[in-house]
Amino acid sequence: MSTIIRTTTAQLCCDSEWEAAYRRFETPEEEIRKFVARLNAFGASSWPKYDQIVEIFCGRGNGLKALKQLGFQRLEGVDLSEKLLLQYEGDAQCYVADCRKLPFEDGSRDVVIVQGGMHHLPLLPDDLNAVLKEVHRILRPGGRFYAVEPWRTPFLTFVHFVSELSLARRLWDKLDALAVMTEHERTTYEQWLGRGPEILSLLDHYFVQNSSTQSWGKLRYAGVRRD
Ligand SMILES: C[S@@+](CC[C@H](N)C(=O)[O-])C[C@H]1O[C@@H](n2cnc3c(N)ncnc32)[C@H](O)[C@@H]1O
Repeated sequence: MSTIIRTTTAQLCCDSEWEAAYRRFETPEEEIRKFVARLNAFGASSWPKYDQIVEIFCGRGNGLKALKQLGFQRLEGVDLSEKLLLQYEGDAQCYVADCRKLPFEDGSRDVVIVQGGMHHLPLLPDDLNAVLKEVHRILRPGGRFYAVEPWRTPFLTFVHFVSELSLARRLWDKLDALAVMTEHERTTYEQWLGRGPEILSLLDHYFVQNSSTQSWGKLRYAGVRRD
């Protein structure tokens, strides 16, 4: 059973309407399946099983469950919301902490993962720089960083266009849930989508890119800690 260590005052980034829409958008089982598929696409089936892995912005911990399903044991999660962390049922060690100041020692972890979280940062590029600097600090030499975040692609533009149509939203609950979430995180989300080149250049500053794809409304990035 997970224990939670508090290193900062818990905060909610997302209000109850956002959370309700998030629950409507996909079930935990669907989300875990999605995370397993993404991790496999990053090659997780061949990562050493004893890797020490931190999932940042881990929310209710479905990414940690996906990692556990893939056979990883040494798992930790970090999120600012104690409320979301309390929804996680698993044995990873979880921390209520701000990802701009991670509660780990220098050079102590093998892998850091984020699956949708950095687009919630209020101040770009400063907050992103703070998070990436921390990720770089806690990774061992050769440590890897994997990120999946929303990205402005033609597909995303189309989805946003359709989600503005009330008939489409009435007919497809998932689309309506997405539209509600987007409305509630609009400021940080729009800011994130508008800063693509700056985000890629910051990633490049801290990591040597292994792969980076931008398709279907997502950035999928894998990099190795720059020496
Ligand atoms: C879209 S949710 C991530 C969902 C997560 N992938 C899951 O499986 O539940 C974004 C998360 O980022 C967290 N968050 C936002 N700002 C943060 C910060 N500065 N430090 C840590 N967590 C933060 C929120 O509490 C929220 O859980």
